[in-house]
Amino acid sequence: MNSKEQKVIISTFEKEVCEGLTAFPKYLSSKYFYDEVGDGLFQQIMALPEYYLTRAEYEIFEKHKLAITQSFDANKEGFDLIELGAGDGKKTKVLLKELLNQDYDFVYKPIDISENAVDGLINNLNHEMPKVTVEGQIGEYFEVLDRLKHISDRKKVIMVLGSNIGNLLHPRAIQFLKKLCNAMNPGDLVFMGFDQKKHPQKVLDAYNDKSGVTAAFNKNILTRINKELNGNFDLNKFMHWETYDPENGTARSYLISTEKQTVDIDDLSLEVHFEVWESIHTEISQKYDDDIVKWLAEESGLEIVKSFSDSNNDYKDYLLKKAK
Ligand code: AVI
Repeated sequence: MNSKEQKVIISTFEKEVCEGLTAFPKYLSSKYFYDEVGDGLFQQIMALPEYYLTRAEYEIFEKHKLAITQSFDANKEGFDLIELGAGDGKKTKVLLKELLNQDYDFVYKPIDISENAVDGLINNLNHEMPKVTVEGQIGEYFEVLDRLKHISDRKKVIMVLGSNIGNLLHPRAIQFLKKLCNAMNPGDLVFMGFDQKKHPQKVLDAYNDKSGVTAAFNKNILTRINKELNGNFDLNKFMHWETYDPENGTARSYLISTEKQTVDIDDLSLEVHFEVWESIHTEISQKYDDDIVKWLAEESGLEIVKSFSDSNNDYKDYLLKKAK
């Protein structure tokens, strides 16, 4: 390659960091929270007393495992259980155990963006539940959806747990659900967790825990920029801030510059100026009710079959099918 042909290869991370930090107001995508350190912090979040979501979904699975697994494959014809964003699969194991106990014919196909997570889960299941057939895949949600249609001829049940959909604004969530719908054949199902609207303080506490793990999780995006793009963010000069709007059900995370400062990101040849109290928006965690889920489903060509709730009605898992 001569110098004229030389191309500068820019990663999506570089491109999006540059776009987000030169925009007004500034933003960064929460998908960049998750490297090895971020995965570990998220594990800690799921065990926090304030972060009710994981426990609520676990309770739903424990309480309704018979009804849930029956609704996946009422005629016991055999199916692929595809989980998008599988993570450590802790909650899913409750359902897998029940499916084994009830003698269902199924293959578990966990899909995650983190190779680390998929490998760990496969090893763990091979050890703990050797009778479960597991076929893992690595990939990003939207890209994986394109592959889904051709994954096999069997019936599909696609699971998206943990209210992961809540990290997408409604238009992107609809885009995602439409893609899911397109990948489905009649008879296929979606099983999806949606965190529900509740006392605003409970939401705020879940995303602003006393021990500061969520703050560290939010700041990990700056650590990644420092490590991977040669940045010099001083983490002590940014603070984590959470808001919740009970009207639209949107929780938002920000990083706020506590002083006027300039940050260099050498690999992007970028100087980023911050005014005192200027924000970087990093995440949304949407909260829902039945009407919003029904609207999202309808907009995407899906319809609600049934839902399962925890005892506080904090969280619901919905079973969805293609609309007629
Ligand atoms: C993965 N996702 C659904 C989590 C949430 O609740 O929005 C990520 C998270 N962010 C802060 N705490 C947890």
